[in-house]
Amino acid sequence: MNLLQKIKETSNFITERISVKPNTGIILGSGLGSLGEEIEGSVRIKYSDIPNFPTSTVKGHKGQLVIGKLKGKNVIAMQGRFHYYEGYSLEETTFPVRVFKELGVENLIVTNAAGGVNEDFETGNLMLITDHINFAFDNPLIGQNFDELGPRFPDMSSAYNDELISKALIASQNLKIKLQKGTYMFMSGPSYETPSEIKMARFLGADAVGMSTVPEVIAAKHGAMNVLGISCITNMGAGILNQPLNHEEVIQTSQMVKEKFIALVKEITNIL
Ligand code: HPA
Repeated sequence: MNLLQKIKETSNFITERISVKPNTGIILGSGLGSLGEEIEGSVRIKYSDIPNFPTSTVKGHKGQLVIGKLKGKNVIAMQGRFHYYEGYSLEETTFPVRVFKELGVENLIVTNAAGGVNEDFETGNLMLITDHINFAFDNPLIGQNFDELGPRFPDMSSAYNDELISKALIASQNLKIKLQKGTYMFMSGPSYETPSEIKMARFLGADAVGMSTVPEVIAAKHGAMNVLGISCITNMGAGILNQPLNHEEVIQTSQMVKEKFIALVKEITNIL
């Protein structure tokens, strides 16, 4: 089966199990999975039950789709995503986004945990992604292009949708949540960066670094979806605070920020 056939098969499998057509897709990053519990009248489908879906291996990731209503909108959420560093190809990493598109999703909200590179940021800040730098030197669109999915050479000059960015800013004002803005640099991981790599990232124009999101955004933009990206700055990048980095800190901060992050995503969905 080629990619197109797989997308159709998976999309049909999901369509048979749901009664509403999702308009907004949400990829829930580290610590944000519990937003899935707030989706009403939901149908949950484990990744392991979905044909052609890879299975997530990271601790703390649930690995299921949740489809239902959030703030009155029809949404489909990923509780757990597929990371490049787990060994998946970027085609596999972005497969769910392709399926979302086939299901009729127009808006994609992508969330993640990231390391702060901009020294004006603080641990626990939320950052609206306004642009990205793909620093993993791989691309989900390498290989045969299916014109049904999008053009061979898609434009990335405004990968993050201006209208959604405006709505996110309005949502943050409504809730009095401080929102930073900046460029997210995608690193393959899974090792964290060195202090020199963080300096390089800053020199190249990055405000945050992380190990996800960019592949999904490229695939979504290829498919002409409207993309919104939000990072939780779970830690400052290596070398900034003169202390070691660890996954526990990332989880701890994302747990602390969770309520604020969930409230923001809900308010954005509310005003979509
Ligand atoms: N670097 C890369 N990815 C991350 C970080 C980081 O410091 N924090 C959370 N995800």
